[in-house]
Amino acid sequence: MKKRVAVIGAGPSGLAQLRAFQSAKAKGADIPEVVCFEKQSNWGGLWNYTWRTGLDEYGEPVHCSMYRYLWSNGPKEGLEFADYSFEEHFGKQIASYPPRAVLFDYIEGRVKKAGVRDWVRFSTPVRFVRYNAEKGNFTLTAHDLKNDRVYEEEFDNVVVASGHFSVPNVPEYPGFDRFNGRVLHAHDFRDAREFSGKDILILGSSYSAEDIGSQCWKYGAKSVTVAYRNAPMGFNWPDNWKEVPRLDHVDEDTAYFSDGSSKKVDAIILCTGYKHHFPFLPDDLRLKTANRLATADLYKGVVWVHNPKLFYLGMQDQWFTFNMFDAQAWWVRDAIMGRIAIPTDKAVLLKDVADRVAAEDAGQDAHDAIHYQGDYVKELIEETDYPSFDVDGACEAFFEWKEHKKKDIMGFRNNAYRSVITGTMAPVHHTPWKDALEDSMESYLRN
Ligand SMILES: Cc1cc2nc3c(=O)[nH]c(=O)nc-3n(C[C@H](O)[C@H](O)[C@H](O)COP(=O)(O)OP(=O)(O)OC[C@H]3O[C@@H](n4cnc5c(N)ncnc54)[C@H](O)[C@@H]3O)c2cc1C
Ligand SMILES: NC(=O)c1ccc[n+]([C@@H]2O[C@H](COP(=O)([O-])OP(=O)(O)OC[C@H]3O[C@@H](n4cnc5c(N)ncnc54)[C@H](OP(=O)(O)O)[C@@H]3O)[C@@H](O)[C@H]2O)c1
Repeated sequence: MKKRVAVIGAGPSGLAQLRAFQSAKAKGADIPEVVCFEKQSNWGGLWNYTWRTGLDEYGEPVHCSMYRYLWSNGPKEGLEFADYSFEEHFGKQIASYPPRAVLFDYIEGRVKKAGVRDWVRFSTPVRFVRYNAEKGNFTLTAHDLKNDRVYEEEFDNVVVASGHFSVPNVPEYPGFDRFNGRVLHAHDFRDAREFSGKDILILGSSYSAEDIGSQCWKYGAKSVTVAYRNAPMGFNWPDNWKEVPRLDHVDEDTAYFSDGSSKKVDAIILCTGYKHHFPFLPDDLRLKTANRLATADLYKGVVWVHNPKLFYLGMQDQWFTFNMFDAQAWWVRDAIMGRIAIPTDKAVLLKDVADRVAAEDAGQDAHDAIHYQGDYVKELIEETDYPSFDVDGACEAFFEWKEHKKKDIMGFRNNAYRSVITGTMAPVHHTPWKDALEDSMESYLRN
């Protein structure tokens, strides 16, 4: 009997897993039967954009946290697939900060070429997974939404690739219940034009705060006020943008901050991060971790230490994304196929986790963190046949990117970087980001 492997989620991580198995098959290996369960009607994960918020047409929580005019917030040269370059996909080199439609097309291009679409059961959320100790396998319960049928199947391995930037962390501050305007989380933010001419308050000081504020600024918000909890982002913001210390409370139309200042605002956007949320997993299989580079309880960042037949992909906080998911997926494939041995002594697995946590904690700054994750990607790649690439070169693109942001936060996307896969320099985009209000794929590719 062939082994059966369940992959939960067809976002970039789950698709990397499908491509990893398909590439082994293409080289003549006898691969397990792979079934991917995807709750949305299409693949791409967060990159599968929808206008919907709240619940979808089946009453399922909407997965998408992306918004209409989102462009990549890091250079594409840091995330390029080593086995499928941007030039291969688009037939030419393209500019460095693609809008989401362009990245969706790229992600999809590789798996279309691999021919793995029929490995995916769409509109099929996984409802539960339990481990059968006596049989040494898993029973997975899935819901075929189109036919409204709940069923169970058994698998030898389960790979959880359900993402961790979809279920919002939603704090409450005094007065939210009597504020007259909208209070929404970044997860439900879609079209920045909604806030044109408005004074907006943003809570948080990370990527969503920076980028949603920038979107609102680009599409004509009257002012942007960002309240930070611990530290400001500290960029050189435009004149109508201000960073203030933490929010204390609000009343009907005004926000009051911990330094005694206040600001009349029309809407509040909570850019307060996301939760690792796995409602389909019981206590003995469920990852509980902070959003950090060295996750809790995952040997090599992917193997569930309490049951090494279960794997997680992409659960780390992310500098590297697509190529890190690839490195993980190739490694997990080889562990499942017996090409890589997972130590049987649990103490060894736990020590690996502790060492990774300590190494991350020893880092001083973002520079160290980028190197730390780059080294992790290298470590995994060296143990598989994933095409080796210049990871240090990709780190350099991240360092340049950080400098460009420091220099000009509303202009950093006008820069270009060299591909570490093909060695080609990207063109500078034809229109500065702040003026490129129309950001369709057709218009982006016109370079
Ligand atoms: C607003 C935003 C912008 C971002 N921008 C960038 C960027 O510019 N560049 C970059 O590299 N990264 C970006 N990211 C990071 C993003 O995490 C990765 O790019 C990538 O999408 C992660 O892939 P994933 O497959 O791990 O998770 P996801 O993309 O979240 O995919 C998970 C999939 O699992 C499915 N799923 C969930 N639960 C179940 C279930 N129970 N049963 C079946 N299926 C299920 C979901 O429907 C989804 O398709 C961004 C993230 C956010 C939130
Ligand atoms: N264009 C893009 O590509 C784009 C855009 C947006 C997001 N993203 C991606 O999305 C992912 C998630 O980013 P994120 O910014 O949403 O989450 P995040 O990086 O986890 O940051 C969460 C922020 O929320 C703050 N916070 C948490 N609880 C709070 C509370 N109770 N009150 C006030 N502030 C609170 C945190 O403050 P402290 O710092 O004080 O802890 C932190 O600043 C990242 O991978 C990012 O790259 C990409």
